[in-house]
Amino acid sequence: MADAVKTVDLKKAYRTEAGDLEVLHGVNFEMDEGEFTAIMGPSGSGKSTFMNIVGCLDVATGGECLLMGESVKNLSPDRLAARRNKFIGFVFQGYNLLPKADLLENVALPLLYARVPARERRKRAMAELEKVGLAKWSRHHPGQVSGGQQQRAAIARALVGKPGLILADEPTGNLDSQTSDEIMSLLTKLNDDGATLILVTHEPDVAACAKRIVRFRDGLLVEDAPVAERRVV
Ligand SMILES: Nc1ncnc2c1ncn2[C@@H]1O[C@H](COP(=O)(O)OP(=O)(O)OP(=O)(O)O)[C@@H](O)[C@H]1O
Ligand SMILES: [Mg+2]
Repeated sequence: MADAVKTVDLKKAYRTEAGDLEVLHGVNFEMDEGEFTAIMGPSGSGKSTFMNIVGCLDVATGGECLLMGESVKNLSPDRLAARRNKFIGFVFQGYNLLPKADLLENVALPLLYARVPARERRKRAMAELEKVGLAKWSRHHPGQVSGGQQQRAAIARALVGKPGLILADEPTGNLDSQTSDEIMSLLTKLNDDGATLILVTHEPDVAACAKRIVRFRDGLLVEDAPVAERRVV
């Protein structure tokens, strides 16, 4: 079976006014389906850059990234977007929900891009909202629910396309510790049910819910270890 994610000597240089700035210097990483990995490391160490490349939101400038055994090298922006829609569900710190759409419409959005018919979109979005405990709130707009509920809706949106991989970049960054635990409990349950997850966090308590922790420093992966005693939330 192919790895869910594999990067080989992955490099990224951003083009800046002062010239090219390399911020990932050759990252080697492998992860099987069903794993749950937390990425930690100081601010600016390249965690989000790495996630964006793995998530096909950005492209590497060196090395390779493979998703389910398929390289994303040299794909056109359209093909990259298609790969992203097929394989990846994103969860961000700021939820990134559309404020003028209700939760059901927000969760259904990836299916609209995938040209799923309207009735099926609603049905599948509702099923995901139920999974995250938000069925009652489907007609509310993001501004009418709590931060934790918004993040749960964002998780439902990440799940609705049945992606092979869920990427969460500081999903609890804006939440108090109790709400953060609720989100981690939900992500843990999704992983128990088979979802493959990568999560970036600055909080050791959050990382301790994962099965494995990798650490970035100065654009390199410097440590990779299983979690000896996972925190149960
Ligand atoms: N679009 C960009 N253009 C130029 N430099 C960038 C760009 N995005 C990120 N960088 C730089 O790349 C480096 C890595 O940034 P990145 O956002 O990946 O760090 P991070 O580990 O996610 O940090 P944080 O914990 O603060 O989110 C930083 O030095 C940052 O300033
Ligand atoms: Mg970041």
